[in-house]
Amino acid sequence: MRDKIYYITTPIYYANAPLHIGHAYSTVAVDVAKRWQALKGRETFMLTGMDEHGEKIYQSAEKSQVKPQDWVDRYAEDAKKLWSFMNVSYDGFVRTTDNCHKKTVEEVFKKLLAQGDIYSADYEGPYCVSCETFFTEQQVKDAVGCCPDCGKKITEIKKESALFFRLSSYGEKLLNFYKANPDFLQPTAAANKTIDTVTRGLKDLCVTREKVKWGISVPGDPSKTIYVWFDALINYLSGAGFPHDMERFRKLWPADCHIVGKEIYYFHTVIWPAMLMALDLPLPKKVYGHGWWTLRNDKISKSTGNIVTPYEVCEQLHPDILRFFFLREMPFGTDGAFSLVRIEERYVADLANPLGNLFKRTEVMLSKYFGGKTPSDGSFDGEILQKQKEVLLKFSSLMDELQFHGALNSLWELVDAANRFIEEKKPWVLYKEKSPRLNDVMLTLEGCLEFCTGLLSPFMPVKCAEMASHLDCEIKMPEPGAIRKGQLIPGGEILFPALVKK
Ligand code: MSP
Repeated sequence: MRDKIYYITTPIYYANAPLHIGHAYSTVAVDVAKRWQALKGRETFMLTGMDEHGEKIYQSAEKSQVKPQDWVDRYAEDAKKLWSFMNVSYDGFVRTTDNCHKKTVEEVFKKLLAQGDIYSADYEGPYCVSCETFFTEQQVKDAVGCCPDCGKKITEIKKESALFFRLSSYGEKLLNFYKANPDFLQPTAAANKTIDTVTRGLKDLCVTREKVKWGISVPGDPSKTIYVWFDALINYLSGAGFPHDMERFRKLWPADCHIVGKEIYYFHTVIWPAMLMALDLPLPKKVYGHGWWTLRNDKISKSTGNIVTPYEVCEQLHPDILRFFFLREMPFGTDGAFSLVRIEERYVADLANPLGNLFKRTEVMLSKYFGGKTPSDGSFDGEILQKQKEVLLKFSSLMDELQFHGALNSLWELVDAANRFIEEKKPWVLYKEKSPRLNDVMLTLEGCLEFCTGLLSPFMPVKCAEMASHLDCEIKMPEPGAIRKGQLIPGGEILFPALVKK
């Protein structure tokens, strides 16, 4: 049997406010992980999309006197524009208002109802209108009368006749699953929280809303709509072809990885796997909860009103630089402070200086000493070969674990080693002395540039295409010690020019 397609997903984003760098962060991380798998030769599928139902979206549209469908259409278009601006290469884009998705949700709902995993009862409890979520008295008390998610005051106690998902009966099974599949919950800090919550015991989940008009109607009871989270999580199935294209679904499912922000980790590691268990479908292989970008110590978010968009950040910088910064600046899983100054510092310290100069110096020397070609004879330096081997091993295993930050650190060990190699070998002296060692040095340096171009390509696809055109090489998984003799090295414009202060 052919390898299963590597299937990775982003959260689907609420269609009620412009997307900001927080959203771009998740999407770029998924894109990088997908491109890494593709570089390794796997067939890949990346799913993203929009979460378009619910009271909050309905209210936003109404306030702006726009029809809800027109409202969400606009945000879906904006998202597609943003992902193209950020060089994100997604393969599927689900919108929860798509008919195909709605049908999947209805089918899932009907099946769970028929088998008794969804049952009807009355529900009363504190309700956050903003998050469209019921909370327990205790949760609201702990959050001093506010919503534990968005922090807004909870003013409503809601009572409805409702349908419930039998979440409570999956606690034991979930704990067994986590134990048997230690890769499923990542990273460890997030995992522990989930395990604690499930160990304390789960309550059944109300999966319908009575007064929310903008949603998928409960099959057989149009007075109710399906809870947005129940609807939204199913995008990972509908976007993979379930059940309308089972041939495709079988190649994709189970998802290899869901990447989500830590605030929605619970939904993805408790509710979602329980739903899949009820459906008798295999569970995703990994759910990775990443941290937040903060600004003035607050999470960047619409509700705190401190939004920064990728467009603003990229007024002066190529979007690839933002992509690189996202994953280079902080370990995946922790929080970090976002600042333009930090991006510029990183740009200079990692890209313009060590990498940009390595390119420039190598190209200039090849042009001066070999007429713009690589030497037609010579061999790869033994020490740098060893370094490349070590770096490739480390880089690969860290990328497989989504430790982007560590992977880039290890690649920079090679960039630094190559720069030191120039200083130590002094090619200008070898040239003057007409030493045959010059051939080895220059072949080795050019080999290092190709090596970096390949491994950096998931992070900076456009910049790496430029790098590849400087070298007239293909972008591919590098092989340590690979050299190309007698090849034209066309070079080109400075890859990482100095920033002009505005
Ligand atoms: N619609 C739900 C997700 C449903 S998935 C089945 C949702 N949407 S959202 O528009 O609020 O997007 C939330 C996601 O955006 C977070 O999980 C996270 O991935 C990303 N981020 C939003 N703000 C962020 C930061 N400030 N920092 C990093 N990422 C954050 O929740």
